[in-house]
Amino acid sequence: MTGIEIVGTGRCVPGRLVTNDDLSRLVDTSDEWIRTRTGIAQRYFCAEGETNAQLAAGAARAALKRAGISAEQIGLCVAATFTADHAMPSLACEVHGALSLPESAPAFDVNAACTGFITALETARSLLAGGSVTGEYALVIGSESISRVLDMTDRNTCVLFGDGAGAAVIRLSDKHDYRCVMGARGDASLLHAGGAASEEHFVHMEGKAVFRFASETVPKCVMQVLDSAKMTMDDIDYVVCHQANGRIIDHVMKKLNAPAEKFYKNMQTYANTSAASIAIALDEMNEKGLLCPGTRVVCVGFGAGLTWGGTLLTF
Ligand code: ACO
Repeated sequence: MTGIEIVGTGRCVPGRLVTNDDLSRLVDTSDEWIRTRTGIAQRYFCAEGETNAQLAAGAARAALKRAGISAEQIGLCVAATFTADHAMPSLACEVHGALSLPESAPAFDVNAACTGFITALETARSLLAGGSVTGEYALVIGSESISRVLDMTDRNTCVLFGDGAGAAVIRLSDKHDYRCVMGARGDASLLHAGGAASEEHFVHMEGKAVFRFASETVPKCVMQVLDSAKMTMDDIDYVVCHQANGRIIDHVMKKLNAPAEKFYKNMQTYANTSAASIAIALDEMNEKGLLCPGTRVVCVGFGAGLTWGGTLLTF
């Protein structure tokens, strides 16, 4: 399988910092409950007038800058989101306009909820490898404004999510080990939100059942990725899980009998940013100098659909 090189990453968070204490003034909750049940300490919400498209474009610009690539060199733009500002045009087309990407670069969204960034990466890789897009580089974005679809009177959901965007500039490479596995189980009962045919605008989640689903699916997904590459946990430097809940990640660690240092966590800062969470984590790791040439990372997303997906990336 032709692999990918991640040549640059970027992120953008909105302007309104919301602490657990801030939320405890809106609903019957506490900083202690949120921290111990989820690992979340704060999140960022879009300020008045701030849009998902602005976040996505901000992350994309940062990724281009870090990659040292100009907008004209982009051959494809794929955005993962379940909270696009409009049903149409897509978030990716809004970024296309904001960054003046070339007309030869197609732009579209994918929606696999919290698995979105994994799905978008593989979509972009496949299109580059298939030769149906011109240009060497693809821009892959995960971006959400989930605060727009949160019921701020429901303590079961409003404390869990945040807004933000992450992006990566990629190109094909045979020198970088890459694997991808994905799956889905059509079941809207545990997790759903809004849409044209829905009277329910807000996120609805059966937390316990989603927790069980994630705890079973994520370790399996990591093992599938490793098996497909004929590798073990010892060959991997980091695992970046979708940042929904620190306790899910702790469970995955235990099940895989893997050391805590390999599992990157940043839900304490951003909460669950759905399709953006893995992209934001990769950019933070990049900034901290954790992603050196040869570093191997397994990323795993899971979420509404139900969907899941794992990828092996080599830096
Ligand atoms: N503050 C205080 N109490 C709360 C809060 C809150 N914010 N939320 C729920 N509670 C209460 C409940 O009402 C319940 O009270 P009761 O016993 O009187 O009924 C009690 O706390 C325990 O609730 P549980 O649901 O059992 O709490 P649990 O320990 O399971 O944690 C949580 C809940 C954090 C939601 C957990 O189930 C979870 O993280 N689930 C997974 C979420 C997830 O991973 N989502 C990812 C996908 S998202 C996507 O794809 C868009």
